[in-house]
Amino acid sequence: MEPRLGVRILHATESFFLAHASGIGAAASMSRSDDPKNGASGAFSRRGFIRGAASTAVALPFTAGAVAEVTEAASEAPAVDSVDSQAVTLRINGQPHTLSLDPRTTLLDALRDHAGLTGTKKGCGHGQCGACTVHLGGERILSCLTFAVMAEGRDITTIEGVAAGAGELHPMQQAFIDHDAFQCGYCTPGQIMAAIACVREGHATSAADIRESMSGNLCRCAAYPNIVAAIEQARSRLQET
Ligand code: FES
Ligand code: FES
Repeated sequence: MEPRLGVRILHATESFFLAHASGIGAAASMSRSDDPKNGASGAFSRRGFIRGAASTAVALPFTAGAVAEVTEAASEAPAVDSVDSQAVTLRINGQPHTLSLDPRTTLLDALRDHAGLTGTKKGCGHGQCGACTVHLGGERILSCLTFAVMAEGRDITTIEGVAAGAGELHPMQQAFIDHDAFQCGYCTPGQIMAAIACVREGHATSAADIRESMSGNLCRCAAYPNIVAAIEQARSRLQET
């Protein structure tokens, strides 16, 4: 005879909890409970369910106690914010900047938040997009992956420092304008810093070479063909000078 609705709901509920609590596959559990000849199995399932519920009830206060111990231990640990700031002098675009920095400050944050040079952009903050590219000692680096203290005593060049003077853009900046090599412009400072390094490193011999060398600098606006064209134009001008 077809079991009453309440009994069927009870069986279904037991099967659900058993499948999740004991790690047994849901399909196997459902087939046992749904089998009308499986009365013994149903009784076993109810006992198992009650046992599981009881053990969970025992485990919960134990878990709560463990959490309390961990919380107490954490409150006794020294606060990570207690690291002393230190004076760091960075030479940025030829100018010394003495900053009071937590030693864990990235060069990117030091430039933007402490030196006020916001031309360098923060994209991912994890070394994956190239938006934060600057030059350190003449070589391109990702400033989000570099501690500011590591740059002390070395020459740092940012997008604010590449132009020769007021009103005169760097050939790479001019080439980006000439070729519409940006749309929103967020990636552009990093692209230009990487592009200057690309030419300087001798990696701008062909379009394929440029694409390979610039592959670490992402552009969400997909201005890639224009960027390659801009680098090809600037390469000629830079090689003339
Ligand atoms: Fe540095 Fe994305 S912000 S690589
Ligand atoms: Fe928009 Fe490159 S111009 S992300």
